[in-house]
Amino acid sequence: MNTSKPRPAPSEPLDLVIFGGVGDLSVRKLLPALYMAHLHNNLPPATRIHALGRQAWERTEFVAFVQEKVRGFIENKAFTDAAWASFLDRLNYVSVDATQAPDFHTLAAALQSGSDRVYYLATAPSLFVGICANLHGAGLIDERARVVLEKPLGHDLASARQINDDVGRYFQEQQIFRIDHYLGKETVQNLMVLRFGNTIFEPLWRSPYIKSVQITVAEAVGVGSRAGFYDGTGAMRDMVQNHLLQLLCIVAMEPPVSLDPDAVRDEKLKVLRSLRPMTMADVARDTVRGQYSAGASNGDAAVGYLQEANIPEGSATETFVALKAHINNWRWANVPIFLRTGKRMAARQSEIVIEFADLPFTIFQDSPHKSVNRLMIRLQPEEHIQLHMMAKEPGSGMKLRPVNLNLDLETAFSERRAEAYERLLIDVIKGRLTHFMRRDELEAAWSWVEPIINGWQQLNEKPKAYTAGSWGPAASSALMAREGSSWVEES
Ligand code: BG6
Repeated sequence: MNTSKPRPAPSEPLDLVIFGGVGDLSVRKLLPALYMAHLHNNLPPATRIHALGRQAWERTEFVAFVQEKVRGFIENKAFTDAAWASFLDRLNYVSVDATQAPDFHTLAAALQSGSDRVYYLATAPSLFVGICANLHGAGLIDERARVVLEKPLGHDLASARQINDDVGRYFQEQQIFRIDHYLGKETVQNLMVLRFGNTIFEPLWRSPYIKSVQITVAEAVGVGSRAGFYDGTGAMRDMVQNHLLQLLCIVAMEPPVSLDPDAVRDEKLKVLRSLRPMTMADVARDTVRGQYSAGASNGDAAVGYLQEANIPEGSATETFVALKAHINNWRWANVPIFLRTGKRMAARQSEIVIEFADLPFTIFQDSPHKSVNRLMIRLQPEEHIQLHMMAKEPGSGMKLRPVNLNLDLETAFSERRAEAYERLLIDVIKGRLTHFMRRDELEAAWSWVEPIINGWQQLNEKPKAYTAGSWGPAASSALMAREGSSWVEES
C-alpha cells in the first residue's frame, strides 16, 4: 500500500478536538502531554484544545475538572503557575453526543475559522464511524484534517477491517494516525538509530549470529479499574497484537530506504507478513496463557485476577502470554523469537534481549560460558542499552567473567525526555506519519494473532495460574528451556 508523502507542517490556527475529552485517557495522558507540549512551546501559537463529552458542562466547569483531575498527572518540576494558566486558556469544552448529528453544528461553531483540525478519537471504536459521518455531515473534514485512532483497533481481523473501511470513507490513509504509544517511546525510536545509525551491528544482526530474541513487556500493576474493558480483551489483544508486534517489527525489519513514513512502514509490514502462521499444534506447543492468582506486588498483598472488582466469576481471560514465533525470511531463519507480557509480574520491566550465538569452540577451558554476548535494550522503567561481553578476571590464569558495556541514555543526554504521548501528538500536529501504523500493518498483525486466539478457543483450556508478583507460569520457562534458553530477568 502506498500513501502519499507526509503532509507539510500545518499552518495556524489549529483546533485539536478530543472525543472522549473527559475520559481516562484524556485525563491521564493526553491533557498532561499537551500541557508539556505547551510548556515547551511545541504547540502552534493559535492552538485551541476542545474536549468533547456528553456532560452538559460550561467551559468553567470543565476547567475546574481539569484543575482537579489533570494537575496530579503533571510532574511538579514541570509545573509553573504561568504555564498552567496559559494552558487552561487554550482549553474549551463542547457538550457533544457523538451519535447526534446536530451536536456537530455546535462543534463547528466552536472551531476557529480556516483552522487545521486534528480529531482525536479517544472513544470506544463502535463510535468511530458515527463520529466520522457526523464530522463529514457538518462539513468539518477537509483535506488538511487529521484523525487519530486510539486502540483497541478491532477485536479480530474482520472488526479491524470494518473500522478501517468506515474511517476510510471519510479520511484518506495519509490523514489517519493509528496510535501505538510504544512507537513514541524514546528507546524504541532509538532502536532504529542503534540498528541503522551504526555500522557494527548490521553484519551480525541475522541468523546464525543471533541465536534468539526475547521481547518482554512486564507490568507490576493488575487490571485495576479497567475490568469492563480488560476482561473482554485479554493480554493477547491488549498488548501482543499491537505493542509487542510493533517492537518486533523494529527489531527485525530490513533497513528502510529512508525515514519516509511509507519506507519504514513497508519494511515493518514485510516482517508481519513473514511471521510463520501458527497451526493448532504450534499453538498448543509454543504459546502459554496465564492468569494471576493472589500473591504480592511491591511488598503489598495482591488479590488474584478473579477477585478483582467486576471480573466475572470463573473468567478465563488471560493476563499473561508467552509465545515462540518465527520469521520466515533469510535474515531470521531458525531464530526463535520469544514474546512475553503480563500484568502483576515481579517488576515493571520492558526489555529486548538479543542473544548472540554460542562460541563454536572455546580455548578457555576454565570458563563455563558458552553463550557469551548479549545485547539488552531496556525500555522501562529506566532506559539503557547494555552489551554483555567476556573479560579476563584480573590475576594469574585465564579465567573469564562477564562484564557490560553500558550506554546509559538517561545520563548520556541532559535533554528532557518527552513522554510517548507528547512526542506522538507533536508528530500528529506536524503531519509526520512515520511512527503510526498503516492500515495494512494493523491488518497483517491481526492476521497472525487471530489463529492463535482461535486455537486457544478450540483447545478450551483454562489459563495457567501464576502468583501475583512472579514472572509468570512455569510453562513459560519451559517454553524457553526447550530451545536451550531462559528468560533474562535481572533487575
Ligand atoms: C496499554 C494497555 O496500551 O498499555 C494497558 O491497554 C497497559 O493495559 C499499557 O497497562 C502499558 O503502557 P506503558 O507505557 O505503561 O508500558
